[in-house]
Amino acid sequence: MAKTVKDYIRTIVDFPHEGILFRDVTTLFADPRGFRMCVDQLLSPYAGQPIDKVAGLEARGFILGGAVAHQLSTGFIPIRKKGKLPGAVISESYTLEYGEATVEVHDDAIQPGEKVLLVDDLLATGGTAEAGIKLIERLGAEVIGCAFVVDLPDLGGRKRLEGMGMDVHALCA
Ligand code: PRP
Ligand code: HPA
Repeated sequence: MAKTVKDYIRTIVDFPHEGILFRDVTTLFADPRGFRMCVDQLLSPYAGQPIDKVAGLEARGFILGGAVAHQLSTGFIPIRKKGKLPGAVISESYTLEYGEATVEVHDDAIQPGEKVLLVDDLLATGGTAEAGIKLIERLGAEVIGCAFVVDLPDLGGRKRLEGMGMDVHALCA
């Protein structure tokens, strides 16, 4: 039978902590058929829709988002962890299991009214994606979709993003 995107993803037991089953997408990215299938499937729901920019969440969202942006012939915008971007930024903080994290985007990276597709490898609690959406919306742009390779539905991310009115697309659970 033909392989699916999920077949290329490896699960690592007890990483980064005991009891966690870590979905490792590096095996998907490393395979030429798997990577192309994944980028094509991330894009397919948005065919024919105007998209001005693709934004990717650090770090694996950069790999996917860059490929998606290239395929769409749009620009790519990195949403980075605090302190990494050299220019003037806006920031959003969000809660992690232990503590807080902050993501940032350059304040001139996206123009008001632009339509942005947000891309990342995995949706868990949705905290990272929510912060990314807030950054894009604070710049006056519209998030037309959020595309992920993996959705972990038990962690509530999809419900959280759909509760914000977002269109969520994921290739596997
Ligand atoms: C992972 C993953 C998402 C985020 C999902 O990144 O790649 O970006 O967590 O979790 P959430 O839905 O609960 O916010 P991580 O924070 O491990 O960063 P990294 O890609 O830089 O390793
Ligand atoms: N893989 C990658 N990132 C993650 C995971 C995972 O299984 N869980 C939470 N963030």
